[in-house]
Amino acid sequence: MALASQPIGVFDSGIGGLTVANAIVKKLPNEEIIYFGDTAHLPYGDKSADAIRYYCLRISKFLLDQGCKMIVVACNSASSAAYDVLLDFFREQALFVNVVDPLVGAVAKKGFDRVGVIATKATIQSGIYHKQLHRVRPSLEVESLATPLLAPMIEEGFVHNQASRAILDTYLAHPGFSDIEALLLACTHYPLIRQDIEDYFTHPVEVLDSTLVVAEEVAQKLGDNGLLNPQKRHPHRFYVSDYTQSFEETTRLFYGEAIQLEHYQIW
Ligand code: DGL
Repeated sequence: MALASQPIGVFDSGIGGLTVANAIVKKLPNEEIIYFGDTAHLPYGDKSADAIRYYCLRISKFLLDQGCKMIVVACNSASSAAYDVLLDFFREQALFVNVVDPLVGAVAKKGFDRVGVIATKATIQSGIYHKQLHRVRPSLEVESLATPLLAPMIEEGFVHNQASRAILDTYLAHPGFSDIEALLLACTHYPLIRQDIEDYFTHPVEVLDSTLVVAEEVAQKLGDNGLLNPQKRHPHRFYVSDYTQSFEETTRLFYGEAIQLEHYQIW
């Protein structure tokens, strides 16, 4: 039986999921976060579904061992490959939230006829957004594009410069995006280049990411289960499976403030 005072585990392939962690901390300041970035295996987007599932099971076990009452899979590649398996293994031990369903739910509430999706290869190849969006709105046209250079580029802190804009412009010139009404940023790294994406389009395109809707889903699920923490007692903790100085430097970009990364040798 989980207690409200237990922490929330949040994990991603790297530090992109810090965008989600930050949104949760802002929405729920009483909650304690234990973050795990699997920087040793970054990027997940180029890995097989089996490999991603293996990593996610191990990381979730670690977060459960830390006493987490909820685990947020703050990575679209992981959510699309491993969410069902995580529920199969661990649903009795904690609540789980993925980053796909809340974004799909937000899109379903809008009256779009045609949307675009950009994400890693793993997420696009899984077909999860197509499937889930058609389930909630069968008439919606969905144009998807794998944009594998974006996550490593952002993780390197390569944003808002000439080279990053050239890569982005090349992807966004995709002919299928010429008449979309909305673009879904289906990777937790992409909120960092949201402004550049918005600036690219010359026709009105609503750019949607999962950060706020995931934070709302977390609040809702904790509330429904009587698990909202009334008072924060311990500091947040941020672990990575491989530590480099460059990760430490980039975290500020993702989290909005400086944080201390701890190396945890999980592998
Ligand atoms: N943050 C991951 C996602 O949301 C992408 C990064 C990666 O490929 O590891 O899909």
